[in-house]
Amino acid sequence: NRVDVVVLGTFVADLAFKAERLPVVGETLLGQGFAIGPGGKGSNQVIAAARAGARSAMITRIGQDSFGEMARQTWSQDGVDISHVLVDETAPTGAAFIFVSTKTGDNAIIIESGAAANLSATDVRAAERLIAKANVFVTQFEQPIEAAIEGLRLARSHGVTTILNPAPALPVEDTIYAHCDYVTPNETEAATLTGIDTSTDEGALQAASSLVERGARNALITLGAKGALLHGEAGTHFVPAFHVADVVDTTGAGDAFNGGFAVALSEGQSPVDAVRFGAAVAALSVQKAGTAPSMPNRTEIEAFLRERR
Ligand code: RIB
Ligand code: NA
Repeated sequence: NRVDVVVLGTFVADLAFKAERLPVVGETLLGQGFAIGPGGKGSNQVIAAARAGARSAMITRIGQDSFGEMARQTWSQDGVDISHVLVDETAPTGAAFIFVSTKTGDNAIIIESGAAANLSATDVRAAERLIAKANVFVTQFEQPIEAAIEGLRLARSHGVTTILNPAPALPVEDTIYAHCDYVTPNETEAATLTGIDTSTDEGALQAASSLVERGARNALITLGAKGALLHGEAGTHFVPAFHVADVVDTTGAGDAFNGGFAVALSEGQSPVDAVRFGAAVAALSVQKAGTAPSMPNRTEIEAFLRERR
């Protein structure tokens, strides 16, 4: 009984406030809507993967509270394996405060990881058997980096394809990259991690090269509406994004992309096809409000890809 995609990361409750624009320092803005829903980069990615058709599993810690209940419901609806979700007796489930502009779809976020901040390398080692039977392992930086490193290392040691989505971008030792088949920052994160301005195509390519020099087999930098740049063992490819006319909420689009990319890789699709698949999942997700709830299912993804061929 293999698993397609294992995700190590956070679940948090997303408290999303809509307003015409993002507030500035010291300002009080009248809102245009509020919703609480399931979020957290790791959980969003596992939901994206599960809906895209992968047998998926989550490794994290949640609290004993109502947001923890929300996590369980979210995962159970999409059939996510939670045999390695630990319940923390001391810390609450995390939460994120999200502002979304109704004009542009832009967002700004503060996240508090809560119980997931207690996820240790020991917790990850306890999940070694689960990780070993995966095709693809994915992690991010909302939980401690030591946990991410341990997961990547274990996955690699079992021949599992590894994806590090280095979000939020934090200062890390370059040694982490040697465990990565794919490191998938967005352009801002790539700039933070490498110190290279990624606003031009040349800059993005330089940043990607720098991540590969540091040890990653491939760098995959998402460039928002411009698409994504894949560089490394898979060659160098600019893969355009799918244009969508009706952007409602870009929050979680990166998670949609990573979840979709992981699923396609786990199915043995080529890296470039996997990027296209991830881009389709992201394009569908921005047309709906929320993060995890906006992830499309396999039928929707395939219809979209057929339409846009
Ligand atoms: O990537 C989007 C996610 O980042 C949101 O769901 C929020 O929880 C933050 O963690
Ligand atoms: Na969305």
